[in-house]
Amino acid sequence: MNRPDLTTDLGFVTLKNPVLTASGTFGSGEEYSDFIDISRLGAVITKGVSRTPWEGNESPRIAETPSGMLNSIGLENPGVDVFLKRDLPFLKNAGATVGVNVCGHTEDEYVDVVKRLDDPAIAFLEINISCPNVKAGALAFGTDPAEVEKITKLIKKNTRKPVVMKLTPNVTDIKEIAKAAEAGGADGISLINTITGMKIDVEKQTFELANKTGGLSGPAIHPVAVRMVYEAAAAVKIPIIGMGGISDWKDAVEMMLAGASAVAVGAANFYNPEAAIEIIDGIEKYLDDHDIDRVSDIVGAVH
Ligand code: FUM
Repeated sequence: MNRPDLTTDLGFVTLKNPVLTASGTFGSGEEYSDFIDISRLGAVITKGVSRTPWEGNESPRIAETPSGMLNSIGLENPGVDVFLKRDLPFLKNAGATVGVNVCGHTEDEYVDVVKRLDDPAIAFLEINISCPNVKAGALAFGTDPAEVEKITKLIKKNTRKPVVMKLTPNVTDIKEIAKAAEAGGADGISLINTITGMKIDVEKQTFELANKTGGLSGPAIHPVAVRMVYEAAAAVKIPIIGMGGISDWKDAVEMMLAGASAVAVGAANFYNPEAAIEIIDGIEKYLDDHDIDRVSDIVGAVH
């Protein structure tokens, strides 16, 4: 009996399977390589890199919530130079397919970073216009369709790499944002980033996060993510990388049935470093059990 075909063609890159790791939950890949063979993943999407090192927000930056967590890391990262010197060679040697998440405070910062990320080992760029935890840039670009189209065009003009725009759920109408990214020339979109939330310690009568607000991720947001992927898939023709509370193969299959061509595993990596590998195996078994030859056959199958 033939094994189901997990190959995932996103148009701009062909992945060995549709399971990626979500930016900010998997470091640069090296941190997880003691636990899993990262070359088995569809791709590793790295923590956002900026033009210069960013220290991130004050601590505490993490709070546990029912079925999820809040983070307000603030895009801490060592900067693009360290990424290119230290992290990319590691990923290359490990045989990983690499998507690099890019963040910036200004248009110029995004442009400078994408220009530097021209190495053949980089399969695509994911542009973070959706982090809720920084005051300048990121989310400021991601909530207005006109801004989304403008920055997408600018990025496309300044890189030869395929561009995936990472969208925020903190908007009224995700369809308009998805269409704006497509109109700007994006090769794909990824969604959802985290949902802005807050937690208060009732005994201390203080905010649990120094930043007061943070981004909610984990199983609590999964139904929101499925709904938004479904709506975006109906609005655009470019491929969607779906994410938001994917913890097991069922969540991944659900996201693909809603219209995602691939999925990214996020918060689950924190408590189960093998989650993404288990999900790859689980999707394969699901296809086998249902006599489905190709994983692409389930994309958008529920509409
Ligand atoms: O605060 C953070 O580093 C989170 C980033 C994001 O959600 O994009």
